[in-house]
Amino acid sequence: MKTRITELLGIQYPIVQGGMQNVGYAELAAAVSNAGGLGIITALTQPTPEDLDKEIKRCKEMTDKPFGVNLTILPTIKPVPYEEYARVICENNISVVETAGRNPEPFMPLFEGAGVKVVHKCTSVRHALKAEKVGVAAVSVDGFECAGHPGEDDIPNLVLLPAAAKVIKIPMLASGGIGTGAQMAACLALGADGINMGTRFLASKESPVHENMKRAIAEASELDTALIFRPLKNTARVFKNAVATQVNEIEREKGQDMKFDYIMDLVAGVKGKAALTSGEIDGGIWTSGMVQGLIDSYPSCAEIIDDIISECVGTINQRLAGFIND
Ligand SMILES: Cc1cc2nc3c(=O)[nH]c(=O)nc-3n(C[C@H](O)[C@H](O)[C@H](O)COP(=O)(O)O)c2cc1C
Repeated sequence: MKTRITELLGIQYPIVQGGMQNVGYAELAAAVSNAGGLGIITALTQPTPEDLDKEIKRCKEMTDKPFGVNLTILPTIKPVPYEEYARVICENNISVVETAGRNPEPFMPLFEGAGVKVVHKCTSVRHALKAEKVGVAAVSVDGFECAGHPGEDDIPNLVLLPAAAKVIKIPMLASGGIGTGAQMAACLALGADGINMGTRFLASKESPVHENMKRAIAEASELDTALIFRPLKNTARVFKNAVATQVNEIEREKGQDMKFDYIMDLVAGVKGKAALTSGEIDGGIWTSGMVQGLIDSYPSCAEIIDDIISECVGTINQRLAGFIND
């Protein structure tokens, strides 16, 4: 396959694995890159910039293909040395960084100086335009369906992608809700140059999370996600477990008076991280997207990518081409 994304990123298939907190370790990134996509290590999953340095070096031993690093800049309880993480990315000659959470402008001189291509993930046309203006190489447009932070506009990809494609000139990845080849064909038809997936790779053989989570995703339907932090204007789509349901109840109860303090303990990152390792589904908040309704197994990343590509090509060449009269 050849698109502006395969050309830009130097990869075989226009498929990217989005940054995933507590999931995006070297093993997963290398598996995706070795399968012809772009794997991404999640910088902040590493406790310090020094640990990120080691993780990148570990990944380089597992693959000689390009891989990226995600740098997510979101409100946090503890201050994060973003600049130092960014410096480690540059020093390791990483070819692409996925930024998310806020405008990457402050980091652009550093990344540009080191020849790192920036793919900015955002959830609206206005943020994509802004990113294009500050010089990113590509945007990853995350629709309302996505796992993690869908923003506050609630525009799904059937509208968001063509709306972005109408005005964005740089290459664009479609992100959010994607897990099949037919969806990939649809995204390409809507103007994307490739796809970015999180949940699909979360439920893969090489994903480091407990098998209980992978099974829960395979068994869950598209209805089994919850939106939390809505009243705080920091919406996150997560797996609908007992903790997410309790958070939603508190949010409803508190209404206009909702404060983060009321749920701080319930949503603590350490609990979510521990749950992913122990396999306790209700052990904390953990992230998953609506696409889980289309996922019923957790094969290797290579199988996931091969299946998606062959279904995508089949959809374009047979199903769609078959609708056209000679
Ligand atoms: C477990 C998990 C953790 C995630 N953590 C992050 C993160 O730290 N930074 C980020 O930019 N996106 C994060 N995301 C979002 C993904 O990179 C991607 O944008 C999203 O999953 C796309 O939607 P999909 O899951 O429907 O494919 C996470 C997603 C999942 C499933």
